[in-house]
Amino acid sequence: MREITGAVIESSGMPVTIEALQLDDPGPGEVLIRMASAGVCHSDLHVRDGDWVRQGPVVMGHEGAGVVEAVGVGVDGDLVGRAVALNWLAPCLRCRECQRGRQWLCQDSPAYRHAGLDGTPRVSRPDGSPVLSYLSIGTMSTAQVVPATAAVPMPDGVPPEVAALIGCGVSTGVGAVVKTAEVRPGDTVAVIGLGGVGLSCVMGAVLAGARRIVGVDVSRAKLDLAASLGATHSVHADPDRPDATVEAIRAATGGGPDFAFEAIGSPATISQAVASLPPGGTAVLVGLTKFGQRASFEAFPFVDGGRRIIGSNYGSAVAAIDFPRYAEAYLAGRLPIDRLIDRRLRLDELEDAFDRLRAGAAARQVIVF
Ligand SMILES: NC(=O)c1ccc[n+]([C@@H]2O[C@H](COP(=O)([O-])OP(=O)(O)OC[C@H]3O[C@@H](n4cnc5c(N)ncnc54)[C@H](O)[C@@H]3O)[C@@H](O)[C@H]2O)c1
Ligand SMILES: [Zn+2]
Ligand SMILES: [Zn+2]
Repeated sequence: MREITGAVIESSGMPVTIEALQLDDPGPGEVLIRMASAGVCHSDLHVRDGDWVRQGPVVMGHEGAGVVEAVGVGVDGDLVGRAVALNWLAPCLRCRECQRGRQWLCQDSPAYRHAGLDGTPRVSRPDGSPVLSYLSIGTMSTAQVVPATAAVPMPDGVPPEVAALIGCGVSTGVGAVVKTAEVRPGDTVAVIGLGGVGLSCVMGAVLAGARRIVGVDVSRAKLDLAASLGATHSVHADPDRPDATVEAIRAATGGGPDFAFEAIGSPATISQAVASLPPGGTAVLVGLTKFGQRASFEAFPFVDGGRRIIGSNYGSAVAAIDFPRYAEAYLAGRLPIDRLIDRRLRLDELEDAFDRLRAGAAARQVIVF
């Protein structure tokens, strides 16, 4: 048992409080992580703002990296001292999807219980009352106990902030392009929404050798950042003129992109992604909407033109394989992940970070412990 400091919300829709908490020792199959860095992803904001109803109280955060300090029974002791990136969907390794190699669709991940491997919380308040940990990793905390399958060792030389981003935004965006969609050299790509996830789609499209990469955002600063990462065209979106955005995407790609990635999670921009497609084109939905929302598209040309819509969860990541690959690509200078980080902050500045994210004024903000 040790004292930690964590960012807690009482329930979805409530502001964050920074609290002194108790952390249990790691149980069988678990590891204790001293957190080094945690990214602020829009999925945290969905929880904070009540777009997604989640049980509380819960330690926030699902994008993080740290160092293994101790291991529980049954875990390789060589892990102690290793720098790791954390996987927010710790695979059970037993369900049908895990067995067929699709860990990003694991049906029995401890992450769904927001607790330890046995389903009970590892964190508590000083009065002994339990506190959940978001997706079983609750990264916005000075330390955490997580399932060992959530801790993926990083190669030497990867900064903790970069490792943290690999834990969600980078794997989600790069993987949507190179794994889910399997973009090929010479393909054309549009990316609607250039936050940490969309900018990672842009980096993935560069890595895949896409011929044209169209960045789309309401923020000119984001368009400039996307261009500096390799986007070849920019479309400045006006939410009041969705048809103009679609036309501009089609013009920039000579009739529509082979792949249109939606990295916001709004019905309006999902419709724009589908409407921008040429015959045979594919819309890849990466952004997550509020629960219960529906998006629509005109059915006849969709069918007549043989178009497709696919969803991409976690960039189809098999963390143990893909995290080190993305880290190696960073070290080789082919995935400039550090360029996404535009603010480093303290844990007690989290509400301010959420304000900036809500306003669309941040690429990736990272808490440094
Ligand atoms: N599928 C997954 O596995 C997965 C994983 C992580 C995050 N996500 C989701 O991806 C989405 C993006 O996450 P993020 O952290 O990059 O968010 P973010 O808030 O940093 O980025 C969103 C971007 O969209 C832009 N935008 C907003 N409205 C727009 C409009 N109408 N037209 C054009 N641009 C607009 C904003 O300016 C901002 O740059 C969220 O919904 C998040 O929950 C999905
Ligand atoms: Zn995320
Ligand atoms: Zn599984």
